[in-house]
Amino acid sequence: MARLAVNVDHVATVRQARGISEPDPVLAAGIAELAGAEGIICHLREDRRHINDRDLNLLRQTVKTKLNLEMAAVPEMIRIARRVKPDLVTLVPERREELTTEGGLDVRSNPDLYRKVIRQLKDKGIHVSLFLDPDPVQIEIGHHIGADIVELHTGHYSEARKESEARERFDRLAKAVDTAFSLDLRISVGHGLNYVNVKRFRSLPRVEEYSIGHSIVTRAIYVGFERAVREMVDLIKDF
Ligand code: PXP
Repeated sequence: MARLAVNVDHVATVRQARGISEPDPVLAAGIAELAGAEGIICHLREDRRHINDRDLNLLRQTVKTKLNLEMAAVPEMIRIARRVKPDLVTLVPERREELTTEGGLDVRSNPDLYRKVIRQLKDKGIHVSLFLDPDPVQIEIGHHIGADIVELHTGHYSEARKESEARERFDRLAKAVDTAFSLDLRISVGHGLNYVNVKRFRSLPRVEEYSIGHSIVTRAIYVGFERAVREMVDLIKDF
């Protein structure tokens, strides 16, 4: 029984295009929960380009399933997370000029920093997930420095143009799932997943949660948000 967690950043992106108050990611989060989502995700970026502090505070007050805050491991965000206390923080790399999160976190480059950040968050009762490429070395270090969960970066797989490429990149993800499972880590996946490419994950029942935003918000434009979420919940629930 895999779970869907819906990322509402893209709802906020549409709002920011006009600089007004709608569409509201907080309302979208409530609809996603009514449609069967078991978690809500938002990424508070340093530049506040989509989700802002008001959204995060209201999501904390209204989300009834599980609130997952994606953020960079920087002092400002650590302060905010320790105050707001989301159920879960997912540490992601963040570069100002990127369109979206581009690669996994490089915990290998500075394990002591990430160990300290994980401890600062866990001290407040917040679970910590690391967004990692499907690289066994990064996953092992993630385990050693105290992460509870790894979210494996599926962007590379999602961008495959040829079937042979998709198969090869998926095999890498499958091996990473085995590595994480053998270390007793809980496993999520996300980035670039849609209603077609997610189907291959049926063969990976150890993946507990799917973190999906863009494809759901895209479909919502055509069929409505509630139905778009429900269709994804129905797709992955038997994985
Ligand atoms: N997981 C992480 C760590 C992300 O940064 C994102 C994008 O915000 C997602 C999942 C969701 O990706 P998408 O919007 O492509 O479904």
